[in-house]
Amino acid sequence: MSTVIYENEGHKCLSFGDLVEGEGIQSNQFLILDGDSSAIIDPGGNLTYSRLYVHAGRHTTVKDLDFVIASHQDPDIVASVSKWLVGTSCRVVIPSMWARFLPHFFAPGSYSPERIMVVPDSGGTIAFGRSSLVALPAHFLHSVGNMNIYDPVANVLFSGDIGSSVDPGNVSMPVTNFGAHVGSMIDFHRRYMTSNRACRFWAQMIRQLEPEWIVPQHGAPFKGPEVIDEFLTWFERLECGIDLFTEDDFQTGSAFAQHITT
Ligand SMILES: [Fe+2]
Ligand SMILES: [Fe+2]
Repeated sequence: MSTVIYENEGHKCLSFGDLVEGEGIQSNQFLILDGDSSAIIDPGGNLTYSRLYVHAGRHTTVKDLDFVIASHQDPDIVASVSKWLVGTSCRVVIPSMWARFLPHFFAPGSYSPERIMVVPDSGGTIAFGRSSLVALPAHFLHSVGNMNIYDPVANVLFSGDIGSSVDPGNVSMPVTNFGAHVGSMIDFHRRYMTSNRACRFWAQMIRQLEPEWIVPQHGAPFKGPEVIDEFLTWFERLECGIDLFTEDDFQTGSAFAQHITT
């Protein structure tokens, strides 16, 4: 099922929140359309490829897809990249940190470097329809080379893993009670985000945009200035990642004592 995030004058943003089959973590995939131009953000891996192709096909001619945009390197982000390059005419947009690893998703000899667009660490704009999509830096949140996609026409920030929640509830409905929502975010962010320093810099940058929506890759989106301010305030105060690690987390004793089984 798709959810329309924005639609006006031929520009449309759609979210798909229920396509993951099997054991994988719930993930949202996104389709942006502007006239005849089309982009999929963070399509995922083998658990979503076929269903996303079919569902996106209800809104556009998928074989003519212009872009597959990968915010970072994770399996739930871009493991299906080889299929998208074969099944559509897309180009793949990916941060420079991860472009050199992309060939590992392909069979030998099937990689197409001429169809890869590499975004520098400082970000950049991608011409799209009558406007552009903006790739914004999101270093270390959580991937070392991570980017977010901002759609200035819709005023939507696709924030990737930032703002994600692990909650079986209705992921198409925006968060209304931020305080109650924190419980589904906190463990994920404490471990998957790298450091408060990165959180603060990112939140400062995002406040300048004044987005109407912040839409993460997992769980429910944030809509409107009040709840977005609550989220950014929480995020810039968050202690996470290396802020929380101590030498107790690097002990040979606990490793040798733990027997790993299926
Ligand atoms: Fe990730
Ligand atoms: Fe993710």
